[in-house]
Amino acid sequence: MLSRTFVMLKPDAVQRGLMGAILTRFEQTGLKIVGMKMVWVTQELSRKHYVEHVDKPFYKGLEKFITEGPVLALAVEGLHAVETVRKIVGGTEPKAAQPGTIRGDFAHHSYEYTNAQNIAVKNLIHASGNAGDAKRELELWFKPEELHTYHTVHETHVF
Ligand code: CDP
Ligand code: MG
Repeated sequence: MLSRTFVMLKPDAVQRGLMGAILTRFEQTGLKIVGMKMVWVTQELSRKHYVEHVDKPFYKGLEKFITEGPVLALAVEGLHAVETVRKIVGGTEPKAAQPGTIRGDFAHHSYEYTNAQNIAVKNLIHASGNAGDAKRELELWFKPEELHTYHTVHETHVF
């Protein structure tokens, strides 16, 4: 049940100064940050990371968005990490994302608007969709020595 997932704060989160507020959400939940680094995504990394989307119509806009400034890459550990993090992140379209989620609370972009403008949905954050993606994305973004094992108080008070 204890597992790790990959999270990325996208350029809009970094440029809007929301890194701290978003990291706080994960820390408050008792999730453990076991890796963190700022990366300016290249076209090549974008294509590898979004391999499932490269042939989709929205990919061009997505690549432009994700390469327009640095991102904050995170490895997050906890119980049911993939599902727990996706719940906190919320649905893909900020307009429809539930209040209380990161995308629902900090953004309100809509597909209607982004389709009309031919741009990507600026939804602040990426989180792996399933265990297989989490493993692949963690290996793509982090070297083994960049991931840390340490103890938090949550192991005493939450688990
Ligand atoms: O990020 P998530 O797993 O929720 O959604 P996705 O379907 O895997 O799409 C990846 C990312 O592509 C989204 O987070 C959006 O930033 C972007 N996207 C878009 O710009 N327009 C779409 N119609 C669908 C996705
Ligand atoms: Mg996805």
